[in-house]
Amino acid sequence: MNKVYIETYGCQMNVYDTEIVKSILQKNNYSFTDKPEDAEIIFLNTCSVRENAHQKVHQRINVLKQLRRQKKDLLMGVLGCMAQNLRQELLEDKVGVDIIAGPDSYKKLPQIISNVYNTGEKEFELTLSEFETYSDVFPTHEASVNAWIAVMRGCDNFCTFCVVPYTRGRERSRDPQNIVEEVKQLADSGFKQITLLGQNVNSYQFKKYDFADLIEKVSEVNSIERIRFTSPHPKDFPAKLIDVVANNEKACKHIHLPLQAGNDRILEMMNRTYTQKEFLDLVDVMRDKIPKLVLTTDIIVGFPTETDEDYKDTLKVIENVEFDSAFMFKYSERKNTIAQRKFKDDVPEDVKTFRMVQLVEKQRNIGYKKNQQHLGETFSVLIEGQAKKPTQMMGRNDGNKIVVFPENGKKVSEFVNVKINEVTPNTLIGDLVK
Ligand code: SAH
Ligand code: SF4
Ligand code: F3S
Repeated sequence: MNKVYIETYGCQMNVYDTEIVKSILQKNNYSFTDKPEDAEIIFLNTCSVRENAHQKVHQRINVLKQLRRQKKDLLMGVLGCMAQNLRQELLEDKVGVDIIAGPDSYKKLPQIISNVYNTGEKEFELTLSEFETYSDVFPTHEASVNAWIAVMRGCDNFCTFCVVPYTRGRERSRDPQNIVEEVKQLADSGFKQITLLGQNVNSYQFKKYDFADLIEKVSEVNSIERIRFTSPHPKDFPAKLIDVVANNEKACKHIHLPLQAGNDRILEMMNRTYTQKEFLDLVDVMRDKIPKLVLTTDIIVGFPTETDEDYKDTLKVIENVEFDSAFMFKYSERKNTIAQRKFKDDVPEDVKTFRMVQLVEKQRNIGYKKNQQHLGETFSVLIEGQAKKPTQMMGRNDGNKIVVFPENGKKVSEFVNVKINEVTPNTLIGDLVK
């Protein structure tokens, strides 16, 4: 039995896909190891959303290639989002891997591997499918509290900075019947929470079922107590969906709402399809219907032509909305994206860094202030595991905030009530109450 080692980079979709790959290989009698030196086959499931993700993988390939010195017939493969970018380099044999397989070709992996063994030739399969949703492959889930479930794949939004529509291809949604089946199996094996996953999750549409319908349908599965989803796009939040998040008891009151930028000219250049005002209005509607809503976001600084004034609009929205937390990124030019073809990456690196550091600092203060408002509140917390400090455990509240409390005989996957008596910018700390 050949042993496979897989290393995963990038977003939760890749983590999910690694489990899909494992499930497919397991059926074909492969086994797995956590140690690259014990493996006969090494796969890197890669990300190319920003240049540093890309570089990390290149460095890792070079390190892992050294293992070939001891093991001549070691196979190495690249899966995931870098596959497309590597096509040219592969043809020129610059990468030195045996297999390259894009995100829609994992069902062919057993065949690909045996071809390489039989012929000694390199194999690459990069075709993106309009249909593949791996609906019939249930991933091998590691026992845990939360299970991720891909409900749609691909992205048709073509934000000009983003490589995902090219690496992942067109949007396609999975049959809700199939999703519910997977959720039932997860519930049976003890999962309490699921996170519905998609590059553009709220544009889910399968025949007459939209994303709001899907949340309702999935919430009927007994013993799943919390439903989360990521990553949505602001353009796909009709009143119906906001109402479901507001009124469905299992839907967590947390929405990740990527802003990217606060300036209308930059938003237009990014092809985000909303203005600052439309974004702020959407936040108002959400907060009106869901008073305790936790809001988080993604921001890019230093998009081509972004001036100090443009950047200040982003700062203004951050101050205005007061997100609970935010991921901040410096614009990273990606090959073949619309932004790369049309605009010059003209904001100097030190300016990008200055803006990002300033935003991170600002957001840290806002996050701290928001957490202070939770002092004295009691939350239902789903326990995820040991906290960093011994005798302390950690879990999350409905709003996805990390809560730390004394262990006191409590176990992973239980719900407990915790009254908050101390906070940091990222954590709520408290005591168990009835
Ligand atoms: N589909 C999701 C997530 C896409 S990638 C969404 O639309 O929200 C996650 C985040 O990475 C994006 O929200 C964006 O903030 C950031 N990102 C994507 N491409 C980038 C690039 N070229 N440079 C810098 N940040 C980028
Ligand atoms: Fe990329 Fe935009 Fe699609 Fe998100 S919505 S994956 S940022 S193109
Ligand atoms: Fe990266 Fe692909 Fe996810 S580019 S962020 S692994 S969709």
